[in-house]
Amino acid sequence: MSKTLAILTGGGDCPGLNAVIRAVVRTACGRYAWRVIGIEDGFEGLVAPLRWRELGPKDVRGILSRGGTILGTSNKGNPFSFPQKIKGKIELVDISAQVMENFHSLGADVLIAVGGDGTLKIAQGLFEQGLPVVGVPKTIDNDLQATDVTFGYRTAVSIVTEALDRLHSTAESHHRVMVVEVMGRDAGWIALEAGIAGSADVILIPEIPFVLDEVCQAIRTRADMGSRFSIVVVAEGAFSATGDKVLLKTAAENLGVERLGGIGERVAHLLADCLDMETRVVTLGHLQRGGSPTSFDRILASRFGVKAVQLIAAGRYGEMVALKGRKVVGVKIAAAVAQLNRVDPQDELVDTAQNLGILVSRAARG
Ligand code: F6P
Repeated sequence: MSKTLAILTGGGDCPGLNAVIRAVVRTACGRYAWRVIGIEDGFEGLVAPLRWRELGPKDVRGILSRGGTILGTSNKGNPFSFPQKIKGKIELVDISAQVMENFHSLGADVLIAVGGDGTLKIAQGLFEQGLPVVGVPKTIDNDLQATDVTFGYRTAVSIVTEALDRLHSTAESHHRVMVVEVMGRDAGWIALEAGIAGSADVILIPEIPFVLDEVCQAIRTRADMGSRFSIVVVAEGAFSATGDKVLLKTAAENLGVERLGGIGERVAHLLADCLDMETRVVTLGHLQRGGSPTSFDRILASRFGVKAVQLIAAGRYGEMVALKGRKVVGVKIAAAVAQLNRVDPQDELVDTAQNLGILVSRAARG
């Protein structure tokens, strides 16, 4: 039976979104001869005036290697808490019933929601209200449960690794401490993996609060042994054992979503006070999300797009595609968003870093 699939990309963009859109369109229009429409700017496109367009194979030509998303995205269109001006004041209102109606008015049978934790929680909420939904997990943060990895993450790790390689030479030439702040929200995956790949000396992650004296001591010891420079990778959500996360905006100031940032500056400042060394800060920011996906992410995103259409063909709504070992499978969206996938302090990767002599928030072993 013919179907119309609607696809949207929600939340922060990441490399590989276009590869998913392309795979969905090619599979749905080719193998199944179904129709695909693209909702623009995430869930915002389902709020009047509706923004959407037809997507056929010609529309997805040449986009596999392109970063960003041809459909646009937004992290501000949550239908369950949508900002509306009421008597001159912005209030967050539940307009999900209206969004469901708008969706049905498009003549679409099923929604493919490509997004991270926030987008998939919305997708799950709409599914619980009766909307046929299939999810595709994206995020550079890699903080979703129920999949081995999200697409976009490996590309971000590669970008940070390359930055760390470049920073080594200048740090060494000037005998400086370079503090590099990376993204990841409340998960330290990017910092940990890129820190190992880029040979950082200190990695600070949100899952293990750090002790500043230990960081200073590690850098001093390195200098005493002849390495008069250090690379400190700080996840944006990291905080000291005696402090709190550093925010650019609180959730209350930013429509329910915390904006992290600034811990790099703070750490550099504190290190400059306790060390007799120059410090500099590099905040990699949105560079980590921009540009072309790596081949790994192109392939993963393509597999996810194909599998999403296959889940729809099998009527498996409320599921999300996920990588489990070598296989792409369907899992419940609810399981993926129940809690964040964060670094376990006992994780083998933490142990690996520590055995390599990297201080991971706490002092390295023996
Ligand atoms: O979730 C992806 C992410 O890039 C986080 O790592 C970061 O904290 C956040 O999005 C930044 O969001 P924005 O693009 O709204 O500044």
